[in-house]
Amino acid sequence: MRLDELIRKTERRLRAARLHYGHGTDNPRDEAAFLVLRGQGLPFDADLAQAANPARVEPLIRKRIRERIPAAYLLSEAWLSGERFYVDRRVIIPRSHIAELLAQGLAPWRPRVVRRILDLCTGSGCLAILAARAFPQALVDAADLSAAALAVAKRNVLQHGLQRRVRVVRSDLFSKLHGERYDLILTNPPYVKSSAMRRLPAEYRHEPGLALAAGKQGLDVIARILAEAPRHLARNALLVCEVGDGRKAVERAFPRLPLVWPADEVFVIGRRFAT
Ligand SMILES: C[S@@+](CC[C@H](N)C(=O)[O-])C[C@H]1O[C@@H](n2cnc3c(N)ncnc32)[C@H](O)[C@@H]1O
Repeated sequence: MRLDELIRKTERRLRAARLHYGHGTDNPRDEAAFLVLRGQGLPFDADLAQAANPARVEPLIRKRIRERIPAAYLLSEAWLSGERFYVDRRVIIPRSHIAELLAQGLAPWRPRVVRRILDLCTGSGCLAILAARAFPQALVDAADLSAAALAVAKRNVLQHGLQRRVRVVRSDLFSKLHGERYDLILTNPPYVKSSAMRRLPAEYRHEPGLALAAGKQGLDVIARILAEAPRHLARNALLVCEVGDGRKAVERAFPRLPLVWPADEVFVIGRRFAT
């Protein structure tokens, strides 16, 4: 069987299984290609006319269908902005909208000088690493409460050769970052409200609850970040925060804050909100 035939066959099986997507792909065709190609260690631009090895990917396809395990966990890798990150169940699978903003250099909000960056709630370290690439002169702190997540972040920092510029810090939000100030704070914090947590598709239940759950309104962590961030933003600094589908809740809870929304899922706010 050829690769393209195996991808088509796999796509049909995934479609019939009525899976949920959103962990790197958003449809059965792309998910099938991901499983079939990467499951055989092939690049995404492999020649699809070549012979496939169905036996090698069959266990992955079965697990994807029967146990609803996201493909990224089955393959131990996730792709964001064209970069590969190691992932396992200690971290959520990278998919942050902040990656797109970083790819555009944060224009038009880019602070003039970016020497120090904080990626708060770093998980796999993906945003810290993308930020280090977007700002090659900057030093980056990658902070998370979960020691398990930080072990994955460390592995990714090493994999990307950034250990000189990206420091991994275990911290409950800013608690271990006393006195530190940053030109840029990025954060993709937990923001799923309790009612939505109860309805999550099976795929999300394989991800760490600590990475998702954020109380009744989904604002528990965001509210703490907004309260504490001003003390950690340098002059002319910028806070970039992902909120998922919580935009309305955020705007209702913080009507006075001059939030700007580059995308519905992300707000940016300048240092001046502290005054
Ligand atoms: C939505 S995930 C984001 C991970 C990564 N930045 C990304 O975009 O893929 C949220 C992360 O916040 C961490 N977290 C949850 N509560 C925290 C807290 N109080 N302080 C620091 N990190 C926290 C979780 O461990 C998880 O890794």
